Amino acid sequence: MHPNLADDLTRLPELLDAARGCAVEMLSGMADRPVVVPPQAPPPTPLPERGTGAAGALELFRDQWASGFSASAGPRYLGAVTGGATPASLVGDWLTSAFDQNAMLGTDSVAADLERAAVGWLGELLGLPSHRGAFVSGATMSNFTGLAIAREWVAEQLGVSVAEDGVAALGAVPVLSGSPHTSIFKALSMLGLGRGCLRQVACPPGREAVDVDLLAAELAALDGRPAIVVANAGTVNTADFDDLRAISALRERFPFWLHVDAAFGGLAALSPRHAGLVAGLDEADSVCADLHKWLNVPYDSAVQFTRRRDLQVQVFQNSAPYLSAPTADPDFLHLVPENSRRLRALPAWFTLAAYGREGHREVVERDIALARELGDRIAGMPHLRLLAPVRLNVVCFTLAENPTSERVGRLNRAVTESGEAFLTPTVHEGTPGLRAAFSSWRTTASDVTRLTDVLRDEGNEPAAS
Ligand SMILES: Cc1ncc(COP(=O)(O)O)c(C=O)c1O
Repeated sequence: MHPNLADDLTRLPELLDAARGCAVEMLSGMADRPVVVPPQAPPPTPLPERGTGAAGALELFRDQWASGFSASAGPRYLGAVTGGATPASLVGDWLTSAFDQNAMLGTDSVAADLERAAVGWLGELLGLPSHRGAFVSGATMSNFTGLAIAREWVAEQLGVSVAEDGVAALGAVPVLSGSPHTSIFKALSMLGLGRGCLRQVACPPGREAVDVDLLAAELAALDGRPAIVVANAGTVNTADFDDLRAISALRERFPFWLHVDAAFGGLAALSPRHAGLVAGLDEADSVCADLHKWLNVPYDSAVQFTRRRDLQVQVFQNSAPYLSAPTADPDFLHLVPENSRRLRALPAWFTLAAYGREGHREVVERDIALARELGDRIAGMPHLRLLAPVRLNVVCFTLAENPTSERVGRLNRAVTESGEAFLTPTVHEGTPGLRAAFSSWRTTASDVTRLTDVLRDEGNEPAAS
């Protein structure tokens, strides 16, 4: 054994304590350090020949890299849709690496059973009693997997199989959606259907929810051709929701697969006041639910749910003499793009076991209330205006006058450089703006005040400049 490895093996408990010390130091200072620091990577160095051992690597990491990491797990990182990591999910994540299970097969350990248990709990949380699921790395992969099953369903309607004969057997597939996330386009590109097959159906003015009458008209124009409809349960810009029940009802008249991107919005099901937004989710053929967003587990983690496991196996099966063959309850390598896979279910299992429905409901409801609070404060500032009502956990706003991308970009940079918060830019109905997405279990009212103070001070430049 290499001497560094042998030495590290003897010192393993001490090394893990040192790593724990580093993590605790970082986590306990999270609320006070700048949310984002301008990235400045240390100069490149050649690959070490002998290496330093783990203690030396930890020292190097602390000296050269750690201070450049963002506080993305903290309370005021409001860019994209970014959850933190609950204490229990962090414990689960550490143990995932320590146990280092390969969750592809169910023959050598209970890892696959734990994944099934976690998926079952998540199904209960989201109100998906008739779906079955599997863990993937994020919402993009969940959307990809759901749309791969959708593609096989379209093939089935046409009497062919893409899994066997390739996409050329299929011809063009119409995919309809109101305000799809960009990951849908990426998935369609990866699936060989092409970004261009997506037909965007108009939404009523001021909304990102599809106009269901227009969707029906588009479906009618297909004249019985099978299609895929991507419904959105929580749009990234303004957290708007399609009417899932109304869309699902169209299946009585037109043949289509209903995929719902509920990446973060699915968790609205936890809040009795907001659960109506996802009414009908269980009627979807496939559902994307992301966990590193509002469930607050560490990256990376999402679940793909479907009701057509047979088609899923048709697409993803991977039999070999040294692997399992698909059964009625197939091993996970037959269900998702990966073969070997990390036991991503463990952090999710830990957070659900530790805090239950009630604990996660509290996080969701607090984040919604904080988003409303920020929305109210922005509405009260003469130099800012909301671009959309605050429907859930996302606040989309801009400068009240002359909101050019330069001026809005300047405001965004000022917020970032203050170190107080991190927001991400957007364009909503042609107007440049900013988004603040509340998804972290750590965020409280004092964080809204800190952001509001920066917005009040920084956004007040003359409108013409
Ligand atoms: C609605 C929606 N779908 C998909 C995604 C993609 O998520 P990921 O980056 O985890 O792949 C996001 C990310 O914000 C999202 O908001």
